[in-house]
Amino acid sequence: MTQDQLKQAVAQAAVDLILPQLTEKSIVGIGTGSTANFFIDLLAKHKMDFDGAVASSEATAARLKGHGIPVYDLNSVQELEFYVDGADECNKYLELIKGGGAALTREKIVAAVAGTFVCIADESKRVDFLGAFPLPVEVIPMARSHVARELVKLGGDPIYREGVVTDNGNVILDVYNLQITNPRELEAKINNIVGVVTNGLFAARPADVLLLGTGKGVETHK
Ligand code: 5RP
Repeated sequence: MTQDQLKQAVAQAAVDLILPQLTEKSIVGIGTGSTANFFIDLLAKHKMDFDGAVASSEATAARLKGHGIPVYDLNSVQELEFYVDGADECNKYLELIKGGGAALTREKIVAAVAGTFVCIADESKRVDFLGAFPLPVEVIPMARSHVARELVKLGGDPIYREGVVTDNGNVILDVYNLQITNPRELEAKINNIVGVVTNGLFAARPADVLLLGTGKGVETHK
């Protein structure tokens, strides 16, 4: 199977998982990226079975609207049963690195509100230790050099993602060569640097369910 076929399989598995639990009042949180896009396209076939969605990016909002799915502001939503999103890396504790698509801050906010975070990923994302994928950090533009110096003190090699402005008007530093032995601790340490909006470690709030696409089928990890 190709990587896209694996992504499509996990997207379908996520639809199959959540659909029986949705009502016409349900609002679904939806992430960003190619795997999330497969999920949106498959979920759209059932758009009469739920009310609408909260999007983790402008790109996702546009795709949802293109399917005629109502998109709600998170502030107007009382309850979000599910958040479905991809990842750049995941470990066996369902801790993640996210933000390859620069949507990490809104993704983390929607994940924080959701009752159940369903991560959908192909098997190339599964790692023993997080950190081979450079860790994205969203930074207020004027703090870029300060934050970069602080990240070097933590042992990383930050690289400015040229030409990228996030949906929040900020910039991204991708941090290479971090030894991430304690993801939760590092997530908090980086978020403590003045000028950081958030970083792409999802360890304080990991996924609740991981649907992992493999050549032998979709594995469910909880
Ligand atoms: C975007 C993300 C994505 O979930 C992550 O980059 C995975 O993307 P894809 O599904 O395209 O492999 O965190 O900010």
